Amino acid sequence: MHLSVFVAALCGITSVAALQSPHRRAPVKPKRALPVQHEAKNAHQKRQSSYLTSKSAKFAVNGSAIPEVDFDIGESYAGTLSISSNATDTNALWFWFFPSENADAGDEIVIWLNGGPGCSSLDGLLQENGPFLWQSGTYSPIKNSYAWTNLTNMVWVDQPIGTGFSPAAPGAPPKIKNEKDVAEDFMGFWKNFMETFDLTGRKVYITGESYAGQYIPYIAYYMLETNNTDYYNVSGIQINDPSINYDDTLIYAPAVTHLNAYSNIFGLNQTFMTSINERAEKCGYFQFMDYALSFPPPTKIPTAPNSSAPGCDVWDDIIAAAVYVNPCFNIYHLIDYCPYLWDQLGFPSLGWGPNDYFNRTDVQAAIHAPATDYTICGDETLGLIDPGDESIPSSLFAIAPVIEKTNNVIIGHGWLDFLLLANGTLISIQNMTWNGLQGFQTSPYADGDNFFVPYHPGLAEVLYEIDYQPIPPTPAENVAGAGLLGTTHTERGLTFVTVNHAGHEIPQYVPGAAYRQLEFLLGRIPSLTVRGDFTTQSGNYTGTTPPSR
Ligand SMILES: *[C@@H]1O[C@H](CO)[C@@H](O)[C@H](O)[C@H]1NC(C)=O
Ligand SMILES: *[C@@H]1O[C@H](CO)[C@@H](O)[C@H](O)[C@H]1NC(C)=O
Ligand SMILES: *[C@@H]1O[C@H](CO)[C@@H](O)[C@H](O)[C@H]1NC(C)=O
Ligand SMILES: *[C@@H]1O[C@H](CO)[C@@H](O)[C@H](O)[C@H]1NC(C)=O
Ligand SMILES: *[C@@H]1O[C@H](CO)[C@@H](O)[C@H](O)[C@H]1NC(C)=O
Ligand SMILES: *[C@@H]1O[C@H](CO)[C@@H](O)[C@H](O)[C@H]1NC(C)=O
Ligand SMILES: *[C@@H]1O[C@H](CO)[C@@H](O)[C@H](O)[C@H]1NC(C)=O
Ligand SMILES: *[C@@H]1O[C@H](CO)[C@@H](O)[C@H](O)[C@H]1NC(C)=O
Ligand SMILES: *[C@@H]1O[C@H](CO)[C@@H](O)[C@H](O)[C@H]1NC(C)=O
Ligand SMILES: *[C@@H]1O[C@H](CO)[C@@H](O)[C@H](O)[C@H]1NC(C)=O
Ligand SMILES: *[C@@H]1O[C@H](CO)[C@@H](O)[C@H](O)[C@H]1NC(C)=O
Repeated sequence: MHLSVFVAALCGITSVAALQSPHRRAPVKPKRALPVQHEAKNAHQKRQSSYLTSKSAKFAVNGSAIPEVDFDIGESYAGTLSISSNATDTNALWFWFFPSENADAGDEIVIWLNGGPGCSSLDGLLQENGPFLWQSGTYSPIKNSYAWTNLTNMVWVDQPIGTGFSPAAPGAPPKIKNEKDVAEDFMGFWKNFMETFDLTGRKVYITGESYAGQYIPYIAYYMLETNNTDYYNVSGIQINDPSINYDDTLIYAPAVTHLNAYSNIFGLNQTFMTSINERAEKCGYFQFMDYALSFPPPTKIPTAPNSSAPGCDVWDDIIAAAVYVNPCFNIYHLIDYCPYLWDQLGFPSLGWGPNDYFNRTDVQAAIHAPATDYTICGDETLGLIDPGDESIPSSLFAIAPVIEKTNNVIIGHGWLDFLLLANGTLISIQNMTWNGLQGFQTSPYADGDNFFVPYHPGLAEVLYEIDYQPIPPTPAENVAGAGLLGTTHTERGLTFVTVNHAGHEIPQYVPGAAYRQLEFLLGRIPSLTVRGDFTTQSGNYTGTTPPSR
């Protein structure tokens, strides 16, 4: 659809494009027809959905009535459901459920959770993997060509209670003190959700990022403990840039190694580089890294050096130095530079506003959200924040049993994330014992384990626009990097996949990579090394080779 608009605009403009370019002379090239995708004739004919029942009707969202969105986002359901069997319980979770038209999705349901603690999963929906996106620095919402709803039935849930649009009784959030509390509330909600939409018996997958790296393994663990496959048949989880260990391991120990690997991007002065390296050496970080990142691991990995020891708070000092030279330095994405891009959510591009989309009364009404003074990350009263999560990190408890029961766990990590660091995650993996052995037996960064992301016609559009229209009338929308984009490694049911170019939020920065990972989680492709098309691709192009210019 976008394509036809683009082609139409193009026809009128190519002849004058050269004259209008303030940048450079447009190359004189013959006009070339872009491959046209033919949609199935009845693709958009409305059908009666099997999800629309007397139980679900009150949650139905009018997909043509989402403020600022000038297209139909499709069938969806939103609202709140109690965390208990008491339907009028004030403590409830708000969800937005999108059934998929993908024929392979029939026996699946996939949950997406953002982290925090206390961050709304609408961050994921609006800026990462939802059917429509309102990205940092852009005028208006667009259709997401890499929407996870293309592949399967998705539900974004605000949790724990008091997070995002999820209501909580006064004094209830402080009582959420550990991951068992989190899981119990979620499971209460989940039973109600599965019943409301007649989803019992489905395979359940749980996905998310950041602090959801703590939530998800624990929720999966407690779900699996019930043996109740009607509601809780967890068939796999994916956690990206996850909180799975203490900060000393995830952040501080690998910080200077990370700085050294990306020194050209940080661009810090030599005096500082020399001194921070000396401090890292003195604190024992380098020795710890060398020991922890050997394959197979020698023995249980000791606790990481204490970052509170004098001079060992290296991560904080790197950030301070980085801000001096790049005031818009963004720990979520190392290659951000000034200015901050405006952002409806104020996150993860660090520019706030000027608007807060989900705080609008009309938006809240359209998606059956309780009237809420909405911020993307809020509720400081949550017990997980103050006094803090009583549960030990998930890599020291919940992840291994979930791997053993599902043999389908993916841990993803963006290399340009400087909040949680990929090598800290790998150390945590090397310290876990699952399916009979400790850690990976061979390095996940070895040659040959390339993560391949299929090419997509969006890239041809971009090249075409650059070649023929120095001032594109509309930016290309189907834009996502492709090719060999990182490393992937699987042993005994656990996959560790790293993504170049991705910051803290993989689906936001490298949507094609995230989409591919979901295909793998759902078992639609056998491995992330496969060089082939997306399972949903159609049209006159191939996913295996770059589109020609
Ligand atoms: C959905 O919203 C559109 C746009 O406001 C409106 O024209 C249409 O009647 C609505 N449909 C339903 C079923 O309410
Ligand atoms: C259900 O929850 C409501 C609201 O919190 C409360 O007033 C009511 O007593 C509860 N009912 C039962 C049976 O617990
Ligand atoms: C679940 O099954 C396992 C082994 O099959 C058993 O040990 C455990 O007691 C069961 N748990 C429940 C809650 O039934
Ligand atoms: C649970 O999911 C697994 C796939 O993870 C599937 O093989 C199995 O049949 C499902 N069990 C039930 C009872 O539906
Ligand atoms: C991660 O660890 C590997 C193996 O030790 C090392 O080669 C690489 O430079 C590290 N990368 C970063 C970004 O720290
Ligand atoms: C490794 O696991 C042990 C417990 O089995 C724990 O004491 C130690 O702190 C862990 N090390 C790291 C780096 O996570
Ligand atoms: C870490 O260092 C701080 C400051 O020296 C000290 O107060 C704290 O007890 C140490 N923690 C551990 C676990 O050794
Ligand atoms: C080098 O960087 C450090 C850390 O930010 C700073 O304290 C120092 O003043 C810098 N040197 C110069 C010459 O600016
Ligand atoms: C949300 O809107 C309310 C008014 O409806 C306003 O009082 C509040 O400050 C807004 N919150 C944010 C974070 O913008
Ligand atoms: C998602 O579906 C749309 C509509 O069918 C299609 O145009 C798009 O290429 C799909 N995305 C991917 C990554 O396959
Ligand atoms: C597909 O693309 C190739 C190469 O550009 C072209 O030769 C062929 O005619 C196209 N086929 C269709 C059906 O458009």
